[in-house]
Amino acid sequence: MENNPLVADRDRHQWFTPVWAAKALVTAHFGDLTDEDIVVEPTCGSGNFLTALPKEISAFGVEVDAALADLARRNSGRMVLEGDFRTVELPSRPTAAIGNPPFNMDVFDGILDRCHDLMDRDGRAGFILPAYAFQTASRVASYARRWSLEQEMIPRNLFPGMSKPLCFAVFRKDGLGHLRGFALYRELHDVHSMPDYVADELNHCGSAWSVIVSRALEELGGSAALSEIYAAVEPRRPTGNSWWREKIRQTLSRSSEFVKLDRGYWSINKDAMAA
Ligand SMILES: C[S@@+](CC[C@H](N)C(=O)[O-])C[C@H]1O[C@@H](n2cnc3c(N)ncnc32)[C@H](O)[C@@H]1O
Repeated sequence: MENNPLVADRDRHQWFTPVWAAKALVTAHFGDLTDEDIVVEPTCGSGNFLTALPKEISAFGVEVDAALADLARRNSGRMVLEGDFRTVELPSRPTAAIGNPPFNMDVFDGILDRCHDLMDRDGRAGFILPAYAFQTASRVASYARRWSLEQEMIPRNLFPGMSKPLCFAVFRKDGLGHLRGFALYRELHDVHSMPDYVADELNHCGSAWSVIVSRALEELGGSAALSEIYAAVEPRRPTGNSWWREKIRQTLSRSSEFVKLDRGYWSINKDAMAA
């Protein structure tokens, strides 16, 4: 162990969260835990989150390093299993997980997968993570397929010598896929899933749906029945949104780029195009 009590071994990602900071994160994000909850600290190091949790909340830890597992037991007075959280047999199914996992994203993703397997609906996991965990829209979108996520920045110099920007993220297994604190991630993921011509045009104008609907109408000779517009748009619609037909109708009726000729029959608004 290094001299600093907050850093055991940098190469093995053994940075320990100060208890005051663990307490503040528990209060801010897990303040509603009750005596019906069971909390796990999956990579508990010296057990600082276990120590920070209110005594009346059931909690246990897991730590792969035997000496640290022992230290965590003594520091927190809680049960600490020695083993790899991804595979170790657990005494009970947690309703919540909290901690500071290693900043190796393959290991972290395995830990998060195990939390997902163990938890019932509305279970949640809050972790200190390097900001690069959320670098790309596709990475966040893949988390959002199984979790709602929110995150906030925390100072990297919470840990002596830490050079990476950090955040605290809460993953909630609610099936909703909501994102808070992630501006433009969902939008960029949608843009990347669109045909190139839509993505290119979006660099110059605002609405993907207007671009797609007007391109479909152009291909249909400038005017068409709603059913023909649906058929033209379907293969290249921008999202997996099951409300895409409603979105087309909304786009046609709200944008001055289109004009209704008859019931269910629409045209490009040539006057608007000329203006
Ligand atoms: C960054 S430290 C954080 C410790 C503690 N959560 C804290 O905030 O003070 C990460 C800890 O995870 C442990 N660890 C790494 N991989 C693990 C795994 N797969 N299962 C359990 N513990 C693991 C390391 O030995 C290290 O003690």
